Amino acid sequence: MPLPYTELVMEHFRHPRNVGRIEDPDAKSIEGSPACGDMVAVYLSVDPETQRITDVKFESYGCASNIATGSIITELAKGKTLEEAKKISWKQAADELGGLPAVKAHCSVLAVDGLRAAIQNYEEKHGLVKERTPTTIEVLKKRLKRVMNPMAGLDLVRTNLVKDIELNQGAVKVVLDLPADHQFAANIREEIVEKIEPLWDIDSVKVEFTE
Ligand code: FES
Repeated sequence: MPLPYTELVMEHFRHPRNVGRIEDPDAKSIEGSPACGDMVAVYLSVDPETQRITDVKFESYGCASNIATGSIITELAKGKTLEEAKKISWKQAADELGGLPAVKAHCSVLAVDGLRAAIQNYEEKHGLVKERTPTTIEVLKKRLKRVMNPMAGLDLVRTNLVKDIELNQGAVKVVLDLPADHQFAANIREEIVEKIEPLWDIDSVKVEFTE
């Protein structure tokens, strides 16, 4: 039986706004949903003077609800300051769409988490993080869950590619169960560094391969 989607959800799903990527974005994120395993990427351009979002784009690897929510929240976020955009909630997004079926709440949560993670990425890169909680192995693991294993289309942690994570006074070492000359090794290394280095108390990130 088809899900009872509103006209508005269907309209945003068929003609999503702001789909795609920004070349050379000021911030970006990739978030995965623990509920369904789908992923969303969000890209931001930000005016450094006013901290206003001048452009925002998203790519969804999720379902119709996720695409429709990505479409509506990027519309809502455009032109807002980072502080204002942070307050956009999944509930607000779902309301703007005329409601979503209850089983699809996690899909709009995923889109909103993607936007929030991109804002966080901007704040980390620009030293704007206010809550400076110390990085732990758990935090690092969470970041690694945002790095895709291109061979599986799922994240590194879920596909058991991460063999070891070490954290020692701001120095991080990640060991991957992958040969160093693997075709995706350089890409994965780059993405790991990109996700972990912006953390306020991290000075260096080293990625090692097992073979
Ligand atoms: Fe995964 Fe909707 S079912 S994003």
